[in-house]
Amino acid sequence: MPTFLPKLHALFGATGLLIVLANWSATVITLIIGDKYVIAMTKLTIAWGLLALIPMLILAGFSGNRLGQRMRGPLIAAKQKRMKIIAFNGLVFLVPSALILVPLAMQGQGGAVYYLIQSVELLAGATNITLLGLNMRDGIRLGRRRISAA
Ligand code: HEM
Repeated sequence: MPTFLPKLHALFGATGLLIVLANWSATVITLIIGDKYVIAMTKLTIAWGLLALIPMLILAGFSGNRLGQRMRGPLIAAKQKRMKIIAFNGLVFLVPSALILVPLAMQGQGGAVYYLIQSVELLAGATNITLLGLNMRDGIRLGRRRISAA
């Protein structure tokens, strides 16, 4: 296994986490500011950001599974289980709501439907931030173990 794989894996995962975190904070901040133009531009940027986010999370999952092939244990099982929830949340809630919110925000919508979809997106986003954060924490633990075993 290439020696740089753990670092590359950590980079993919951390970048994915940073993108979700940036999208979530930008959404909350622009909602507080309340300027409809800024909200619409932010929603558009978030939708384009999916083009970077999705590959990052796929690469984090693939490289993580590769790293975990020769390891067993509760930390790896927990990371794999979290990654399934992250993918489900992303595909079922985050991506569709991010895409639907762009045209709605462009039309200057602030009605009940808009806020319902926005709440779903924020909730799914917060869940994924938590799960990605836990995967990062457990990854650092796994990395420490490898270093102390070497
Ligand atoms: C299916 C999902 C995942 C699996 C199976 C997995 C598995 C692993 C394994 C086995 C290691 C230890 C590698 C080694 O030290 O040789 C590791 C390290 C790590 N993982 Fe993951 N991982 C997954 C997802 C993620 C995600 C989403 C993140 C970040 C948000 C992440 C962050 C890290 C970090 C920071 C390390 C430490 C790397 C180092 O020691 O330099 N992992 N992961």
